[in-house]
Amino acid sequence: MDQNLLTKIRENVDIVEFIGKYIPLEKKGKNYFGLCPFHNDTNPSLSVSREKQIFKCFVCGEAGNIFNFLMHYENISYREAVLEIAKEIGISVNDNYKPMVDKNKVYYDIYDIANKFFQNNLLSKEGAKARKYLEERHLTNEVIKEFQIGLSLREPDTLTKMLVKKGYDIKLLNDLGLSNNDYDTYIKRIIFPLFNPKGEVNGFSGRIYNGENANKYLNTKETIIFKKGENLFNYHRAKEEVRRAKFVILMEGFMAVIRAYTIGVKNCIATMGTALTNEQISLIKKLSNTVYLCLDGDNAGETATIKNGKLLLDANLNVKVIPLTDGLDPDDYILKNGAESFYSLISSAITYNDFRIRLLKRGVDFKSSTELSNYVNSVLKEISVVNDEIKREIMLKNLANETNVWYNTLEKKLNELMSKQDVKSKMVIVSPKNKEKKKDKYEKAMQTIIYYMLINKEVITLVENSKIYFPNQIYRTLVREISYFYEQYGYISIADFASYINENSEVQEAFSEIITLDLDEDIKKDVILDYLKVIKNYNVALEIKRLENLIINEVDPLEQAKISNQIMQLKIGSEKND
Ligand code: CTP
Ligand code: MN
Repeated sequence: MDQNLLTKIRENVDIVEFIGKYIPLEKKGKNYFGLCPFHNDTNPSLSVSREKQIFKCFVCGEAGNIFNFLMHYENISYREAVLEIAKEIGISVNDNYKPMVDKNKVYYDIYDIANKFFQNNLLSKEGAKARKYLEERHLTNEVIKEFQIGLSLREPDTLTKMLVKKGYDIKLLNDLGLSNNDYDTYIKRIIFPLFNPKGEVNGFSGRIYNGENANKYLNTKETIIFKKGENLFNYHRAKEEVRRAKFVILMEGFMAVIRAYTIGVKNCIATMGTALTNEQISLIKKLSNTVYLCLDGDNAGETATIKNGKLLLDANLNVKVIPLTDGLDPDDYILKNGAESFYSLISSAITYNDFRIRLLKRGVDFKSSTELSNYVNSVLKEISVVNDEIKREIMLKNLANETNVWYNTLEKKLNELMSKQDVKSKMVIVSPKNKEKKKDKYEKAMQTIIYYMLINKEVITLVENSKIYFPNQIYRTLVREISYFYEQYGYISIADFASYINENSEVQEAFSEIITLDLDEDIKKDVILDYLKVIKNYNVALEIKRLENLIINEVDPLEQAKISNQIMQLKIGSEKND
């Protein structure tokens, strides 16, 4: 792609604003920080520089400009990222480039056809009963359309037949889970299409509706494009709304999400009745730093709230709980109590700690001194991990009020607990956060020089004049390309150089590593010269080693003397250099 055009596009988009649309960023000093979406980040380690127009993650090492960010974020090619951004800002890219054909495209195409087929079935004569069922569940035509709800029929109106007629291989249909042993997987079920985070249909969930004696829901098996643990129901649809609301509501089932949608609560997503996976947590992080858990109001739902809440907190997300009771799920709750009641439930969501305390309190006999003191002790344990003094005080006061235990006693006990924990936490050996491979000083010298070449054109000239040979092919390429970029465009910038080298992934990796280095921005010529000397000496050492090997294999004593003389000269030269 044309470098000037890339630069033009890039200059039109401020990286802080751009990345800020995907992840919340906070200003700290000169730079902006957020949770890195490219690894399971627990501390904001993604830094974005407005000045340099680049981002970098100090932990996983992902780095680059806006194009690199979008490419990794959306798992698309570099070109696709450029085109997407260009389109967004209205720059036309006359690049006779055709999007690379996704190797899974045909699978999504098939799912798309199946999805339309099911939707049509629901509207057909045979769909009357299913439509009635949906109506009884208060799902309007509008919602049916929005969620693309469909219906599977039975012989002779089967999906398998239709797709085979269209020329698709029956084996493929079996592999994709649409057929099972050459017959339809879904027979007489209401069909809910499932979407991947990009918004492509990659699976179905089929619900019985006619009182059949079968599993309530039948989900697509794990296929090449469908992994239950990597999907979240309604994720693609909720994205925008979550960004507006600044929090996401996590539910258990998709009827809950659909119901919330009908009352205008559109920032909901759901696991499909399974445990929360790391992949799903990463997906959630891409949406928001704050999660409201709204799981079913039964024992299973409470257990899941405790478990998922912990997982989300460990991933450094803010967690709140919208507690439901009486075995109700959000769907039931809304139908029973109405929209307004649910809105106020959301706005009075409680903290994770308060939710835990609420559970601890349940069933405690306050008249029994044993039960009461057990309760007080376990609540104190909960309070001791809250790291906000004011919150702790409020919680303590509440505890004193409800149990009639003297505040000072509680406070003393809490302090004891906390000092014990302090000792424990101090004993934990702090492991270095960068599992960075050990670099030798030569590699460090090469990387440092390249870094400074990228931020200062005078260093480029300095390195060119030194005629130094970089004893590593990738770094050599980088040095050559930086020089070339500078010669061609008359300036140097990390962000534009990132666009320039993007086609070469090996170099790209080394480049990311280099720009993630935490180096002093002040450049001193002497330091550069020192590093150049280190590399020069390294080259000499390599040459000496080569000659020493030659001597061993040399039989002619005259030749041996010649080589050892050469070695001597090199050694003298490099000492002078030191
Ligand atoms: N689930 C499933 N298989 C089942 C039961 C449940 O995959 N046999 C998943 C579904 O994704 C469902 C979620 O677990 O949405 C929660 O289950 P449940 O609360 O039983 O379903 P609801 O969503 O409430 O559906 P409905 O109101 O139609 O019963
Ligand atoms: Mn339900």
